[in-house]
Amino acid sequence: DWIMGDYIAEAVQKIREQVGSEEVILGLSGGVDSSVAAALIHRAIGDQLTCVFVDHGLLRLDEGKQVMEMFAGKLHARVVHVDASEQFLGHLQGISDPEQKRKIIGREFVEVFQREAKQLVNAKWLAQGTIYPDVVESGGTKTKKATTIKSHHNVGGLPETLGLKLLEPLRELFKDEVRELGVALGLPPAMVYRHPFPGPGLGVRILGEVKKDYAELLRRADAIFIEELRNTIDPASGKSWYALTSQAFAVFLPVKSVGVMGDGRTYDYVVALRAVQTSDFMTADWAELPYALLKKVSSRIINEVRGINRVTYDVSSKPPATIEWE
Ligand code: XMP
Repeated sequence: DWIMGDYIAEAVQKIREQVGSEEVILGLSGGVDSSVAAALIHRAIGDQLTCVFVDHGLLRLDEGKQVMEMFAGKLHARVVHVDASEQFLGHLQGISDPEQKRKIIGREFVEVFQREAKQLVNAKWLAQGTIYPDVVESGGTKTKKATTIKSHHNVGGLPETLGLKLLEPLRELFKDEVRELGVALGLPPAMVYRHPFPGPGLGVRILGEVKKDYAELLRRADAIFIEELRNTIDPASGKSWYALTSQAFAVFLPVKSVGVMGDGRTYDYVVALRAVQTSDFMTADWAELPYALLKKVSSRIINEVRGINRVTYDVSSKPPATIEWE
């Protein structure tokens, strides 16, 4: 609509004035905030923006491909795609503590990003998809808990050691405004209305030590779950179960259980499905998904993902359980 059109024109003007003819880099994660920031800044300054997309090997199925298709393909933005999965998985080898895994993933992300940023010698600005609630949170307005339950490492958080000026065009916007802006900028609604995905990605959805083959099994199971949630419409509301849940995903359990397939015995891994409804992610209820949906997801995963022979549904609310399993 024209109100959003005016907003975009104004924001574009402001970015152009701020940046002048200088170059900007941005860490593109594929999440809503960095994607909308990238689309807006690209609209303003085109090739003066270079996006750096770090693939840590812990993304969901086809996620890297989708980000590249959208930003490099459709928007014609400059995107450097860094496949750093070997580096991340290498450093995660032998590590099973959740907080330690978060720290390693965060540290490697900064390392990879800094290395890439150094190649772009002309960059004077670091753009970030900081939104208003992030500003409030880091300003200490929210009371900080004495004990950290989870460090909630976000791979978007880069240090100032890069020596760059900060460009944060979404600083005044709430999440729903960011989404509207994204759609107005031409990003697909499916991208803009996605469930949140944690910075450490599948790294905290594979319990214990992260292994490449675990990640591959999990990616396929998770994609089936999400596909069925998107395709199953609740008749009462007319909405998909994806839209009716706040966050949904599969979790990989590195334990084996016995099953039977054909005349044979199987001894394979377990996947847990998690789907929650929440307004603030501080508390959450497990979603009462229809049995028919759970049944279909379970049988598809077991039939299509060789290596998984058991699917469970997580019926724990937050608190006392957290949304993620790690
Ligand atoms: P929990 O599991 O604490 O999660 O109930 C609440 C919300 O935070 C997300 N989450 C993270 N996001 N880095 C992130 O960027 C993290 O390390 C992290 N850990 C949890 C989680 O997905 C949920 O939306």
